[in-house]
Amino acid sequence: MTLAAEQRCGVVRPALENGDLEVLVLGLDAEPEVISTVAGCLAEDERRRAERFASERDRRRFIATRGQLRHILAARLEIAPSDVEFEYAPQGKPHLSRRMAAGDLHFSVSRSEDAAVIALSNTREVGVDIEAVRPIPEADHIAALCFSASEYGSYCALPTEARPAGFFQRWTRLEAISKAIGCGLAQHIPLNEQDWTVHTFIPNPGYIGAVVVQKRLEDPHDGRGTEHPGAPRWPCGKGR
Ligand SMILES: CC(C)(COP(=O)(O)OP(=O)(O)OC[C@H]1O[C@@H](n2cnc3c(N)ncnc32)[C@H](O)[C@@H]1OP(=O)(O)O)[C@@H](O)C(=O)NCCC(=O)NCCS
Repeated sequence: MTLAAEQRCGVVRPALENGDLEVLVLGLDAEPEVISTVAGCLAEDERRRAERFASERDRRRFIATRGQLRHILAARLEIAPSDVEFEYAPQGKPHLSRRMAAGDLHFSVSRSEDAAVIALSNTREVGVDIEAVRPIPEADHIAALCFSASEYGSYCALPTEARPAGFFQRWTRLEAISKAIGCGLAQHIPLNEQDWTVHTFIPNPGYIGAVVVQKRLEDPHDGRGTEHPGAPRWPCGKGR
């Protein structure tokens, strides 16, 4: 993909930079010919996966995300996007193949509606999650099941109109940690949230995101605008 095509596919712009941690935001809704160009660097298994999406829009968004992920990683590794090799942990977390000279480059990907984010760190495990903020009918129930006692208490104290954003602020933090660990929220997660530095960010208006990196021993307390949500009280399912 040329730079022009990459830009047409959705401007890639930084949402957060903090030392070694970088978060890039991608737009996903692109012209069909741009999607075809992006699809050119996908591996056979990724193409087969793309074909399995029931909705054409979801298929395009998957291709746009995966294609741009390949381009971003390839630029850092100074190889061709089609030469990026992924391997998958047992529960599906992708990482760079151990066959590649990728050093300790870690990444995590999340998409919601027409936006995606890619978080990168050269040294530490990373997890990212974004959500379009919208009312969720069962949000209070999910919050009761999944949030820590203190997070649930602060969520319940929010006025009704602040609840959707408050819910997703807490939810994305839990998802980001579970993605850094590589397990789904549907499982019992051995979360020790004190091990993670958490940043909340706004990828686009109307969206909320959280990114976590593994703490170093020497890291100071991380109160940079976020609270530790505390351990969830219950292994819980997805929020949608
Ligand atoms: C993994 C999970 C947290 C992703 O969350 P989501 O909000 O649905 O989707 P997001 O857009 O935020 O993230 C999707 C990306 O996360 C990554 N991913 C997939 N599985 C992952 C995992 N187990 N851990 C971390 N990241 C994962 C992929 O890059 C994926 O992108 P892709 O679909 O383009 O390949 C969620 O799907 C989940 O809980 N899955 C359950 C996994 C599980 O329990 N599997 C059981 C099989 S043993």
